[in-house]
Amino acid sequence: MDFHELSFAGAPLIKASPPGPKSREYLDFQFSHEGSAVSYSRGLPMALRRGRGATVEDVDGNVYIDFFGGAGVMNVGHGNPEVIQAARAQLDELTHALDIPFGGRKLLVEALAGILPKELSRIFFGGPTGSDAVETAVKLARYNTKRYPIIAFEGAYHGMTSGALTLCSGSCFKEDFLPLIPEVHFAPYPYCYRCPLGREPADCGRGCIDYLEHLIEDPHSGVATPAAIIVEAIQGEGGSIVPDEAFLPRVRKICDKYDIILIVDEIQAGFCRTGRMFAFEHTNTVPDIITMSKALGGLGFPISGIAYRENLDTFPAGKHIGTFRGNALAYAAGAAAIAFMRKNNLADHADKLGALMLNMLRGWQKDAKIMGQVRGKGLMLGVEIVKDKETREPAPEWAAKVRSVCHQRGLLIEIGGHYFNVARFLPPLVLTEELAEKGVEIFAEAVKEVERTL
Ligand SMILES: Cc1ncc(COP(=O)(O)O)c(C=O)c1O
Repeated sequence: MDFHELSFAGAPLIKASPPGPKSREYLDFQFSHEGSAVSYSRGLPMALRRGRGATVEDVDGNVYIDFFGGAGVMNVGHGNPEVIQAARAQLDELTHALDIPFGGRKLLVEALAGILPKELSRIFFGGPTGSDAVETAVKLARYNTKRYPIIAFEGAYHGMTSGALTLCSGSCFKEDFLPLIPEVHFAPYPYCYRCPLGREPADCGRGCIDYLEHLIEDPHSGVATPAAIIVEAIQGEGGSIVPDEAFLPRVRKICDKYDIILIVDEIQAGFCRTGRMFAFEHTNTVPDIITMSKALGGLGFPISGIAYRENLDTFPAGKHIGTFRGNALAYAAGAAAIAFMRKNNLADHADKLGALMLNMLRGWQKDAKIMGQVRGKGLMLGVEIVKDKETREPAPEWAAKVRSVCHQRGLLIEIGGHYFNVARFLPPLVLTEELAEKGVEIFAEAVKEVERTL
């Protein structure tokens, strides 16, 4: 398919400086009626009307290039016609069935079986959001091993329900709600730009992976043998961090040696985002359990699930239940989205376009004073915004300014990272080369504009 047909022509187009007058009305209404935790509409103040492909339009008629993608949900593009058609057909048939089988549900299980490694032969759908999949995976690991501790990683983001929140490293999310669940420990992730062990890549000796093994092997490390290690194969909210390629295979080896379950969280990195169907496929590693959500629902229909090895399929019926065990529209849309991804080689497209964007960004980076590191894989990219390229001091206020200038100029981006100083790009994967180039140029101009104000 020609992806040009999917997006609005002529993007970006700014008619009224955002937030325009109509957007303001929506925002005033939202802030005076909804809870104070509402956040995206503070960073990107506008109200949306429509989305097409890799572009969205706000209620004032401004059209944006979308490098945000609904936080990594819209992989097949806003309003993807093939996915809408499948969802519409399902809507006319049946919209809720708990876990009683029906056609749409079978289609999604078949579609997943077609893209998962044969080892991950069991699929289980739980509550509607990614956090639910994380909770399910942890419960399954504990149930099978009869152990309790979990090891997660620095920089990890796994969701906001109590168990998933415990597995997040960000203290800003957790510190007002402690204590959470006990016996969760954090190991250093290979974040080489800010090495947790203070080393440089050239002489690092992969010390952080050794340290993970030490935590498990040393009876006095303070960590009892865990039920599971949970890891993002490429970290998302942590700042689009791509670990050394030896990392995941070593974690796998450690899990095998100590009989620990390896959970890979593919909620953000999965479904072609990083240039493979799943991010763990960048190495030859097969996890024991993977978590899935976001793009699994096709166009943002809520659904989450896990895929896991047959030997872990030990829950008796009803051991893990809930009203929304998958969502009927999401099953149909998800199956159509996976078919679209395969038919259009979306992983390859993401891989190629990501390489092009990295190249462009690295070109701009040379003269930029505040672009620290440019990194990522596929269409999960990140740029560290720093006060000084030598000291690498994070500059979260400047990153927020860059996001705001991008918004004014018609580009939507996300901010993340340990210090909220990483500009993150997670565009719909149906982005065209032209939109990718325009978007990167807008970003680079926004960086320059912020630099001029310093
Ligand atoms: C890797 C990862 N895991 C879990 C989650 C939580 O998913 P949800 O927000 O749908 O609960 C996210 C959300 O961004 C995520 O990026």
